[in-house]
Amino acid sequence: MTVTIRRARPGDATSMARVHVAAWRNAYAGLLPDAYLANLSVTREAAGYEQGLAQARGGHAGFLAIADGDETPGGGVVGFVTGGFARRPGIAEGEVETLYLLDDFRERGIGRRLMRAMASHLASLGAANAFAWVLEGNPSRFFYERLGAKPAAREVIRFAGSELPQRAYAWDAIHTLLTATAASQKPG
Ligand SMILES: CC(C)(COP(=O)(O)OP(=O)(O)OC[C@H]1O[C@@H](n2cnc3c(N)ncnc32)[C@H](O)[C@@H]1OP(=O)(O)O)[C@@H](O)C(=O)NCCC(=O)NCCS
Repeated sequence: MTVTIRRARPGDATSMARVHVAAWRNAYAGLLPDAYLANLSVTREAAGYEQGLAQARGGHAGFLAIADGDETPGGGVVGFVTGGFARRPGIAEGEVETLYLLDDFRERGIGRRLMRAMASHLASLGAANAFAWVLEGNPSRFFYERLGAKPAAREVIRFAGSELPQRAYAWDAIHTLLTATAASQKPG
C-alpha cells in the first residue's frame, strides 16, 4: 500500500466527512453520547469542511492521506488534518484543528506524516508555536506527547449535552514539531 499526502481542496469535503464520521464513531464511543454519534451526517460535516477550505480564513488549510492498493480498492482518503492560525488566542499561534485516520490505517506513521504537512504549513504562515485540543479521555493525547507536545491548558466544554474536559497540548516552538515529524523519523 502506498500512502500519499496532498493539500485538500474544497471538492474533497465529502471524502473528509466520511473519514470524520467513521473516526468519531470509533474514537469517541463512550466519550460522546451514542445518539449523537449515530446521528452524525456526512452531508452536514462535508458542508463545514467545504466552507472552511473554500474560505481559508486565518490560513486554514487541510492535508489528506490517500491510500492506493489492495487494502483500499479504488484507493481513497483514509485520513486528514486541518489547521491554521489559532481560532482563539491565548495558547499558541498555530492550531491543529482536526486530525483523523480510519481505524485500519493507524499506527503506520500516517498521523505523523499528516502532522509534518501541517507543521510545515503553520511554519509557512509564520506561526511561532502550535497546539491542539484533545478530549481528556482520548488516548490520542499520547500521540501528541510522542511528538513533543506538553499539556498547556484544560477546560470543560458542553457538547452534545455532555460536560467534556479537554486539554490543549502545545509545542512551545514550531521547530519542535517540525523536528518530531521529520521524514527521518519514519520511512515512507
Ligand atoms: C491520533 C492519530 C491521528 C495518530 O495517527 P497514527 O498514524 O496512528 O500515528 P503514527 O503511526 O504516526 O504514530 C506516531 C508515533 O506516535 C505513537 N502513537 C500513536 N498513537 C498513539 C497512542 N494512542 N498512544 C501512544 N502512542 C501513540 C506511535 O506509536 C508512534 O511512535 P514512534 O515514534 O515510536 O513511531 C490516530 O490514532 C487517530 O486518527 N485516532 C482517532 C482520531 C483522533 O482521536 N484524533 C485526534 C483528535 S484530537
